[in-house]
Amino acid sequence: MSSISHQYHPLGFQGSRIAQGFWRADEWGLSKQERLAFIENCMSLGVTTFDHADIYGDYQCEALFGEALALKPAIREKIQVISKCGIKLESGARPEHSMYQYDLSFDHIIASIENSLLQLNTDYLDLLLLHRPTPLMDPDEVARAFEHLMIQGKVKHFGVSNFTPSQFDLLQSRVEVPLVVNQSEYSVLETSSFINGELDHLQQHAVTPMAWSPLAGGRLFVAQDGQVNRVRSELTKLSDKYSAASLDQLALAWLLKHPAKICPVLGSGKIERLKQAVAACQIHLADDDWYRVWCASRNQALA
Ligand SMILES: NC(=O)c1ccc[n+]([C@@H]2O[C@H](COP(=O)([O-])OP(=O)(O)OC[C@H]3O[C@@H](n4cnc5c(N)ncnc54)[C@H](OP(=O)(O)O)[C@@H]3O)[C@@H](O)[C@H]2O)c1
Repeated sequence: MSSISHQYHPLGFQGSRIAQGFWRADEWGLSKQERLAFIENCMSLGVTTFDHADIYGDYQCEALFGEALALKPAIREKIQVISKCGIKLESGARPEHSMYQYDLSFDHIIASIENSLLQLNTDYLDLLLLHRPTPLMDPDEVARAFEHLMIQGKVKHFGVSNFTPSQFDLLQSRVEVPLVVNQSEYSVLETSSFINGELDHLQQHAVTPMAWSPLAGGRLFVAQDGQVNRVRSELTKLSDKYSAASLDQLALAWLLKHPAKICPVLGSGKIERLKQAVAACQIHLADDDWYRVWCASRNQALA
């Protein structure tokens, strides 16, 4: 039985409160049978949303997922697959790319999604995100690409990643379907969106914030700078009060408390870590404990 509930987004996309990312999947060293077992273990924890991008693992990670899915195609309808497009890496896998750059043209979006579907071994994406904003984005052209993908049944929902509120509004003003997600970096160590209006804006428009690197990409556990030391120290002090909760659980509980209902995208390939993360959904931090971590992260007392 699932240990976390699904999030019913007012705008239509339904994913699990915690998602599993595949950015680092090429470092996990798993065989395709082990990758399938990992996906099924995620599902049994209630983590049914899987996050990808065309570029992950130098264009290799989507295929790692697709190979595993091919072993058991019946699981496709029980999960939600997200992918992203819009970044062009300089890569041996893409010799035609002249430099690292962004491309949100109609042709690039369509070609990228066609390829992602092939790699992921699926007929459709549950959610497509534009990976990064660019000053060259023509919102009418993006709208045309989204409409094309929607009509063809290749993408069910659309969203963005790393967009500011004004970039989001500009695109939404031209795209007919609602943009349901903005995926950005939020964590105990990256709190700027909490005060720069980005999270307010998403809440205002009932858009789901998905958090990439919700554990600061592992920096929380190993880095030694002042901010990390202060935050780690505050979190460690809270452990006893919350039934010996671990550092990662408390860092996630801190994120989950925000009323915008942030959905963390975890990046470890170790199922034990994901179990810890799912259990963190049951930890409800008291307001004073939340503020202690906030002040430690920002290195200032409340005004
Ligand atoms: N939209 C975007 O622009 C964007 C950017 C970056 C990432 N993403 C998405 O976000 C997902 C998550 O990003 P992320 O991988 O940076 O997330 P993360 O979960 O913050 O970091 C994962 C890293 O933290 C380490 N870690 C986790 N728990 C640990 C613990 N208890 N002790 C020590 N180390 C620990 C992991 O090591 P182990 O492997 O040893 O567990 C792994 O190296 C990606 O897979 C991708 O889908 C999106």
